[in-house]
Parts: sequence; C-alpha cells; structure tokens
Amino acid sequence: MMSRGMLISFEGIDGAGKSTQIKALERELRAKGYKVSTLREPGGTKISEQIRELLLDSSSRINPVAEALLYAAARAQLVQDVVRPLLDEGAIVLADRFIDSTIAYQGYGRGLDIEGLHRLNFLATGGLEPDLTILLDIPVDLSSRRRQGMLSDRMEKEGMAFQDRVRRGYLEMAGKLPRFRVINGSLPEESISAIIIDIVVRFLKGDKRD
Ligand SMILES: Nc1ncnc2c1ncn2[C@@H]1O[C@H](COP(=O)(O)OP(=O)(O)OP(=O)(O)O)[C@@H](O)[C@H]1O
Ligand SMILES: [Mg+2]
Repeated sequence: MMSRGMLISFEGIDGAGKSTQIKALERELRAKGYKVSTLREPGGTKISEQIRELLLDSSSRINPVAEALLYAAARAQLVQDVVRPLLDEGAIVLADRFIDSTIAYQGYGRGLDIEGLHRLNFLATGGLEPDLTILLDIPVDLSSRRRQGMLSDRMEKEGMAFQDRVRRGYLEMAGKLPRFRVINGSLPEESISAIIIDIVVRFLKGDKRD
C-alpha cells in the first residue's frame, strides 16, 4: 500500500464532464479496493461552503480580485482541514476543480495577473499541487449545448468569448505542465471513463509516463 495518498484534479470549462467522470472513477477505484474521497471547489468545509454561497449568489456583482481571493480562502481551508489529512492517510482524493481553475478563470478569463494568481494559489495550498490533472477539453459550443436550459443566460455572446479564453488557458497550461493529461471531452462518456481509468491505474503503479 501507499504511504501517501494521491491528489487527482479534474478541470475543464462548464459542462466538460468533470462531475460525470469523477463519479465513474470513484466507483471504479472503490471496486478495486482504494480509499477514495471526492471534493468540490469551492466547498468541502463549513467555512468553504459559506464562501461558496457568497460566490454563487448572483445578485451581488463581485469584483474579480475579490472573487479570486474568496476562491483562495475557501481552498486554504479545504486543503488544511480536509485534503492534507486525507493524503496523510493514504487516500486518493479526487478534486472537482483546484488551483488550475483560478489560473484559467481569473487569469485567462478575467485577465488578472497570472504570476500573482500562482503566488495566491501557493499561499492557499502551502505549495500542494495535484499529482495528476485530468483536463476534459470540449469546444465552447458543445458546452453551451450541454447546458442548454440550465443557465442559458450565461451562454450569451460575451459568455462564449469568456469560456473560450478559459478553454485556451487550460490548453496552454496543459502544454507546459507534465501533470496534465488532456482528454477529448466530446467522446462518449464510457470511452472517456476507460481512458481515465487506464491513466490513473498506470499512474498508481508508478509508471508516470503517458
Ligand atoms: N461524454 C459525454 N457525452 C455527452 N454528454 C455528456 C458527456 N459527459 C457529460 N455529459 C452531460 O453533459 C452535462 C454536463 O456534464 P457534467 O455535469 O459532468 O459537467 P461538469 O464539467 O461537471 O460541468 P460543471 O462545470 O457545470 O459542473 C450533463 O448533462 C452530462 O450528463
Ligand atoms: Mg460539475
């Protein structure tokens, strides 16, 4: 058995399939006998859930810097109270969004200084990074179609341009950081699950190459 757990983050624009795939992977890993925990950002602790409510309250127009700081605050609490203890116990932690969402959304999306956001992430996590990051990549128009009827006003013209900057930001990060694996999120659910379980099982065996 492992002495230390493993942190796997899932990233991608809205509707890319993160929650769907996390559910499938959690099931597969449990069936193989691993201890698995799934966390969503922002959230996962009492304070982080309260911050989540602030962030999702659409009646308040939040300033982008304030938004970045609130995400970081929620993450700091989550890492200290939940993620580190689970990793120390040897668990596999599946994170539905993590540090890369800050860079993609607040940096590439909203245009905040990316170096500053990296420092903010470091401050929030104490330097903890995912061992592996699954980027589910879909075109913006597919995101819009998958979410039709859910929050359609978020998908107006400006929203599409924003989502596209976020998508490109993710792809740029994936090109630079070896922990990223990019998967075509337009494939059928079952094909994506099979690709992910293959990547994760090989990673757990210590074969960290692709
Ligand atoms: N590979 C797929 N093919 C077709 N539809 C999919 C696929 N994966 C997920 N979906 C559907 O697309 C929608 C969005 O999926 P999901 O909620 O998993 O995305 P998400 O990345 O978690 O989105 P969000 O960022 O909004 O939480 C759901 O209705 C889901 O059933
Ligand atoms: Mg989701």
